[in-house]
Amino acid sequence: MKEVKKGLEGVVALDSQISFIDGVKGILKYRGIEIEKLSDLSYDAVSFLLIHGKLPNAEELENYSLELRNERRINRRLLDILNFCDFENESMDALRTAISVCAHFDEDSHNISKEANIRKTTRLVARFPTIVAAFYRLANGMEIVDPDPSLAHGANFLYMLRGKRPTEIEAEAMEKDFILSAEHELNPSTFALRITASTLSDLHSAIISGLCTLKGPLHGGARKGVMEMLDEIGSKDNIKPYIQERLEKKQRIMGFGHRVYKTYDPRALVYKEIVRKVAVEKGDSHWFDLAEQIESTMYQEFVENRNKPIYPNIDFYSGVLYKDLGIPSYLATSIFAIGRVSGWIAHCLEQYADNRVIRPRAHFV
Ligand code: CMC
Repeated sequence: MKEVKKGLEGVVALDSQISFIDGVKGILKYRGIEIEKLSDLSYDAVSFLLIHGKLPNAEELENYSLELRNERRINRRLLDILNFCDFENESMDALRTAISVCAHFDEDSHNISKEANIRKTTRLVARFPTIVAAFYRLANGMEIVDPDPSLAHGANFLYMLRGKRPTEIEAEAMEKDFILSAEHELNPSTFALRITASTLSDLHSAIISGLCTLKGPLHGGARKGVMEMLDEIGSKDNIKPYIQERLEKKQRIMGFGHRVYKTYDPRALVYKEIVRKVAVEKGDSHWFDLAEQIESTMYQEFVENRNKPIYPNIDFYSGVLYKDLGIPSYLATSIFAIGRVSGWIAHCLEQYADNRVIRPRAHFV
């Protein structure tokens, strides 16, 4: 038996054409295009790119956007189930249950042909935001807000969540959030759902595997952890004691470190500028200033005491963004999933197109 790589670190499990990461230089490309460039496009265009392997032309984009906007509404019975179950503040449990229910009502549910998967893609990408917004409003005793087909993916989500249209800068921030979260090679949730797809299970089942894996605090759940940490720290005076106490107890500081990036996560750099812009518009940079100070304190602590730097990952400044947008922390992971679903589906399609069941070995001890 060959050497076991704990956490599969450095193991290359498959060939993929979806994203490229250079963890040393801090580069991330979806389908060969840098995320810095992609973040200026619409989420619909980036979703199309991930699913179809190329950017849409004007007509393809218009058609895809229209299809998505037409598929945003969710089944009344799904709303009843969301209302009936007491998920407390576990939005990922609600989203997981909702996707199971969506499968139940989807006529293509068990069909894994390419054509059926493309039809299901539109429905899933379109409905994730509606489900998360509906869960939030029901959980808070508010009327559901129907999707507005005149609004883009990000703006429409904020509108359904809050019941009023976002400012242009808020809408742009939400759109970029979905784009930056859309795809990241063989991260834990994507690997989990590729395993599910490799058994030739259906698309909804694979997405549910992804959701269950994203939820964990060492993966997508870190975004929620960042928001809770910001609240707990509260003011600049508390940063150093908070960090030192946790590091002494060998606890993790959420939103820092990465298995692949040995430098600044390129997504975090784009997020940082978005957060700065939102803070300027609000005329309140409390969370941004606090975050910058946490970043520099972490860097210093690691350089001084461990002889190596540590940088923020995607979950750090996205958590700060959600604070500025007034989004509660318990929605953070499910909002991550709204963006990620396009990348997840792209990986399922790639797996189905050239499948071999994923089944590694264990070393018996
Ligand atoms: N806080 C404190 N120490 C850390 C952190 C952190 N955030 N990240 C890494 N370290 C330390 C860790 O204690 C270890 O030290 P030592 O070598 O002395 O034992 C060293 O750095 C290497 O850490 P590791 O756990 O071996 O690294 P990994 O590649 O297995 O884990 C990670 C990567 C992201 C799970 C980890 O950095 C972490 O737990 N970060 C906090 C949670 C987080 O922000 N997760 C989001 C990940 S990125 C987006 C996503 O996937 O959702």
